[in-house]
Amino acid sequence: MTDWDKYLKVGIGHAGELMFLCIKFESMDYKSAKFKPVDKMGDLINHDYKLLLVMSRFGLSLGFGDKTVEQVCRENGVDVPTFLAVANFIHEGNNLLEGNLSQLSVSDLMGYLKQAHGYFLDFCLPAIRQKLAEALGTSIHGEIAFLILRFFDEYVAEVRRHMEYEDTNVFTYVSNLLEGKPLGNYTISIFARRHNQIELKLVELKNIILKYYPERGNNNLLNAALFDIFSCEEDLASHCKVEDFLFVPVVRLLEKQKGVV
Ligand SMILES: [Fe+2]
Ligand SMILES: [Fe+2]
Repeated sequence: MTDWDKYLKVGIGHAGELMFLCIKFESMDYKSAKFKPVDKMGDLINHDYKLLLVMSRFGLSLGFGDKTVEQVCRENGVDVPTFLAVANFIHEGNNLLEGNLSQLSVSDLMGYLKQAHGYFLDFCLPAIRQKLAEALGTSIHGEIAFLILRFFDEYVAEVRRHMEYEDTNVFTYVSNLLEGKPLGNYTISIFARRHNQIELKLVELKNIILKYYPERGNNNLLNAALFDIFSCEEDLASHCKVEDFLFVPVVRLLEKQKGVV
């Protein structure tokens, strides 16, 4: 077995320690927030194009003209504080959340996370695989290309298990909590303790290609696949952060309100 083969088999520890969340519980004010309800939706997207993904995961489509965030959200039945909490959180890229968590909509936040799962599993990762296969298809290093694709497929299977656990267990628990149905022994703390980062193996795949793939000639196809992997890695990391630092605290608050914990 070569060093490279061994490298492929290296597992990633997912014991990511959760950082403490700094939350201010006063009121939902937007004084220090980057984006506010009165901002134009177009300005928001021009300022940070990643928020296009946030919009579509909240079910908001393009064609909003000069409407403000508040107008676009209200017209589409999307909770304004929840949309802005996610948009500001993703834009700032940190764990500081200001505002009253009780003003966020648990069901809208959960809907956003579910849509993100669909995006990763049904669109983003299959598109990367297709690009990667196309880029490696012309390779004279058939065995390496095969191993890279196998590594990628194993990674996608891992992401699928992670997201299916959330869809089946966590979101079902939270839906039951919202509807006042019997809950069993589950609490959101069980999820928070076992929740791990899923982008790390993608970092490893990217590094394998960068460091060990013996490329020749035109790199455009492989570079395009790498760009997508970089972007997907960033998107997956912020998805996990939204779950850890927005969703979990909001559900904990709901559990307190319902007298579960
Ligand atoms: Fe998730
Ligand atoms: Fe997750």
